[in-house]
Amino acid sequence: MNIAKLFDQAAESYDATRKKYIPCIADFYGVLIEQIPFGSRDQFSVLDLGAGTGLLTSMIRGAFPRASFVLADVSAEMLEKAKLRFQGVENIEYRIVDFESEPIPGTYDVVVSALALHHAPLDRLQGVFDKIYGCLKPRGMFLNADQILGRTREIEREYERAWLRHAKLAGCTEEEIDIAIERMKADRTSTLSDQLGALEKSGFESLNCWYQFYRYATYSGTKPA
Ligand SMILES: C[S@@+](CC[C@H](N)C(=O)[O-])C[C@H]1O[C@@H](n2cnc3c(N)ncnc32)[C@H](O)[C@@H]1O
Repeated sequence: MNIAKLFDQAAESYDATRKKYIPCIADFYGVLIEQIPFGSRDQFSVLDLGAGTGLLTSMIRGAFPRASFVLADVSAEMLEKAKLRFQGVENIEYRIVDFESEPIPGTYDVVVSALALHHAPLDRLQGVFDKIYGCLKPRGMFLNADQILGRTREIEREYERAWLRHAKLAGCTEEEIDIAIERMKADRTSTLSDQLGALEKSGFESLNCWYQFYRYATYSGTKPA
């Protein structure tokens, strides 16, 4: 099944299960928001790539109410949920875009992404990072909260065990776990060093990983002036 169909089907129940699937989400996304290099009253433009139902954007809006947003996603159904979430809110636009195969429209101060880019295998991720670099203004920042692959089979297995342990502790049912495992078959996650290396190859500077909880890592890079 392709990604658009996979997430079109997931859209209905997506928000309800987020905190159960990713119990660390408050810190995982929270660190990304803390690292956005603007003040709370500033006006600036943000692209949320693979924005889904707008969960990350909604958290960023809470901290930066004057920012404007473009939510880009390949799944029309996920974006429909985002439109419902932000009904009546100004400064939000929506684009149906496949970030792997299509150009990324616009120019932005900040590009953010959460749990979306790991669907692209490393060779294609490089192309996505190149496009992100291309659509950032000079000194613009890219911040990504995403999955990382374990550097060894043992580490990867521990990431898998940790996910299952924490999902169960957070109250996931057996059915919800089966659904998540099925969805994970579309993951093409690469290691943190490969992701950071690809960012550097695209031209990003000041690379840093700000947060990691097992498989979940939040990192950023800046486009030079
Ligand atoms: C796990 S959801 C994350 C949604 C949102 N960022 C969040 O934090 O809740 C992954 C999203 O990435 C989108 N996505 C995956 N591959 C994509 C691609 N090639 N182009 C655009 N969107 C993509 C999916 O449609 C889905 O909405």
